[in-house]
Amino acid sequence: MQQTSTVASDSSAREYAGGKMLSARREGIGIVTFNQPQKHNAVSVDMWGGLAEILGEFATDDSIRVVVLTGAGGRAFVSGADISQFDQQRNNADAQRAYDRQTSVGREKLSSFPKPTIAMIRGYCLGGGLAIAMQTDLRIASPESQFGIPAAKLGIAYGLEGLRNLVSLVGPAHARMIMYTGERFGAAEALRIGLINRVVASGELENHVFELAQTIASNAPLSVAASRLTITQLLTDPQERDVDAVVRASAVCFDSEDYREGRAAFLEKRKPQFKGR
Ligand code: COA
Repeated sequence: MQQTSTVASDSSAREYAGGKMLSARREGIGIVTFNQPQKHNAVSVDMWGGLAEILGEFATDDSIRVVVLTGAGGRAFVSGADISQFDQQRNNADAQRAYDRQTSVGREKLSSFPKPTIAMIRGYCLGGGLAIAMQTDLRIASPESQFGIPAAKLGIAYGLEGLRNLVSLVGPAHARMIMYTGERFGAAEALRIGLINRVVASGELENHVFELAQTIASNAPLSVAASRLTITQLLTDPQERDVDAVVRASAVCFDSEDYREGRAAFLEKRKPQFKGR
C-alpha cells in the first residue's frame, strides 16, 4: 500500500469516481485509496459511490482477506466530507436526508463489510474522514496525524450511527469533549483515549500496516470472522443482537477443516495453512 504513484503503477490498480478513488491488490490484501490530495482527500458524493464499488468487488474476491484504507499524498487520510458540495447538497434538513441516501451505499458497504479492515492514517483525519476510520476495525496512525470532529464549528450534527462508533471507542466523556470543542488533537492523545490502536513512525507505517494485515490474513479466516461478528453484535443494541448468528459462527469454527489443521500444526510444530473452511 503505497501513495498514489505506486498504487497507480501496480498492475492490479483500478480507478473509480474519475480517479478520486483507487483500488489495488497485493498478496491477499486489498487497498483502497482516497485520492483527492489537493483537497486533503475530502470525500465527495461520487467518491462514496466509488468506495461502494471497490468494497463490493473486494467482498466477493476470495483472494482478498484483509482490506487497508488510506489517503493519497501523505498529508491526509481524509479531511472530511467535501464541504464545497454542502451549499448545493447539504444546505438544509431535506437536502441532508437526500445526501444521506446518496452516500448510504458506501457507508453501509463499509459497516457491513465481511472482512477485517484497517485504516492507515497519515495527516488529517477529520469529521467524515474520522467517521470512515472509525468504521474500520483497526486504526494505525503516524505521529503527525491530526484528529477531530469539527461538527460544532460547521453547525452540523452527527446521527446515532456516527456517534455510536465514537462513544464505543472512547466512551462518553471523551466523545463529549471531542464533539463540544470541535478541536483537533494529535496521535498521542488519540492513542491515549483509545481512538486509534497504534502510532507508528511515518517511515515504517506502511510496512507495519502491511505486516499486520498479513498476520491477520494468515490466521484462520473463520475464526477472525467469528470474532469480528461477535464484537460487532456486542456493540449492537441488545434487542437487535443476532445471537443465533454468533452461535452459528462459533459452530462453523469448531466443525471446520481449519480447526483440524490448527490442532495438527500445533502438535507437528509447523505453521498452519488455513483455507477458510
Ligand atoms: N472539503 C472540501 N475542501 C477541503 C476540505 C474539505 N473537507 N478540507 C480541505 N479542503 C481544501 C481547502 O479548501 C483547500 O482548497 P483550496 O486550495 O482551493 O483553497 C485545500 O483543500 C487545502 O486545504 P487548506 O485549508 O489550504 O490546508 P491547511 O493545511 O491549511 O488545512 C485542514 C487543512 C484540513 C485543517 C483544513 O483544510 C480544514 O479545516 N478542512 C476542513 C475540515 C473539516 O471541517 N472537515 C469536516 C467536514 S465534515
